[in-house]
Amino acid sequence: MTRSFPNTRLRRTRAHGWSRAMVRETTMTSADLIWPLFATEGGEEQPIASLPGVSRWPLADLARRAKEAVDLGIPCIALFPNTAPDTRSENGAEAYNPDNLMCRAIKAVRDACGDDIGILTDVALDPYTSHGQDGVLDASGYVANDDTVAILVDQAIVQAEAGADIVAPSDMMDGRIGAIRVALEMAGHHNVQIMSYAAKYASAFYGPFRDAVGSGGLLKGDKKSYQMDPANGDEAMHEVAMDIAEGADSVMVKPGLAYLDIVWRVKQRFEVPVFAYQVSGEYALIEAGAAAGAGDRDALLVEKLLSFKRAGASGVLTYHAPVAARILNG
Ligand code: PBG
Repeated sequence: MTRSFPNTRLRRTRAHGWSRAMVRETTMTSADLIWPLFATEGGEEQPIASLPGVSRWPLADLARRAKEAVDLGIPCIALFPNTAPDTRSENGAEAYNPDNLMCRAIKAVRDACGDDIGILTDVALDPYTSHGQDGVLDASGYVANDDTVAILVDQAIVQAEAGADIVAPSDMMDGRIGAIRVALEMAGHHNVQIMSYAAKYASAFYGPFRDAVGSGGLLKGDKKSYQMDPANGDEAMHEVAMDIAEGADSVMVKPGLAYLDIVWRVKQRFEVPVFAYQVSGEYALIEAGAAAGAGDRDALLVEKLLSFKRAGASGVLTYHAPVAARILNG
């Protein structure tokens, strides 16, 4: 393309609001949002100090939040449990208790909303282990891959039985997508989807989430032996390719904004929907930045969310989902 000034003035199409609307390349609606919600066994709303504006909810309130999502046009919620301390254990067995908080949360939302909302559930052991790691430890303290996968399979099955629509393994064990897919098929859950946290990085942006599910205080060390090195991009393509081959219906890149190049590369290279998780630390930074005068909160958050769509994401998991939906719905 050869174009030259003044025959071409790129400002012409920017001169009017109607014109900008005509040439807009990316749109964002409430249907692009997935709302992560935290459940508690407690009887009261529990605000999370490091995540201002976000709370853990008793199941009745959680169901009300899910209905709010339906009313706002948010198609899917992501559930995370704050498991009671006395049910956490070395091997996280509470994860596959069919009556655990997660399963009861799934049922509460289903009872309230029927099929009007998608219920995405987290598959990983960190809310259930006494050490805060996403899997079980061997004698040396290493997170044992295959033993963990066996437990994750049982966890995914109880979630599907309780009514989960999408199981989302966030643990980063090798081979878990294939194992979970086989188990779901054998159990007759042919239409339960898997959204794989395929490219999940060992990130400093997860702190407030760990407060929310109560694993932060328990965690010793880090998750670098299973979550990815933030320096790597090619390896993310490898992870995504493996998870698709194993049966993932969609894949996720996490965290979000610092990894938009990965979202872009996945979108260019693979024919599956890709989602981005704008994680807890990113949310907290926007809130803190706006409170400190860095900019208008609503404008900041919409611009950031739009960047995910521009990079090729089909949707974004964000704690700002209800706020964003209200803004986007006008
Ligand atoms: C763990 C899990 C984490 C998040 C979702 N699932 C944290 C971690 O890996 O330690 C982070 C989400 C967020 O920060 O918002 N299975």
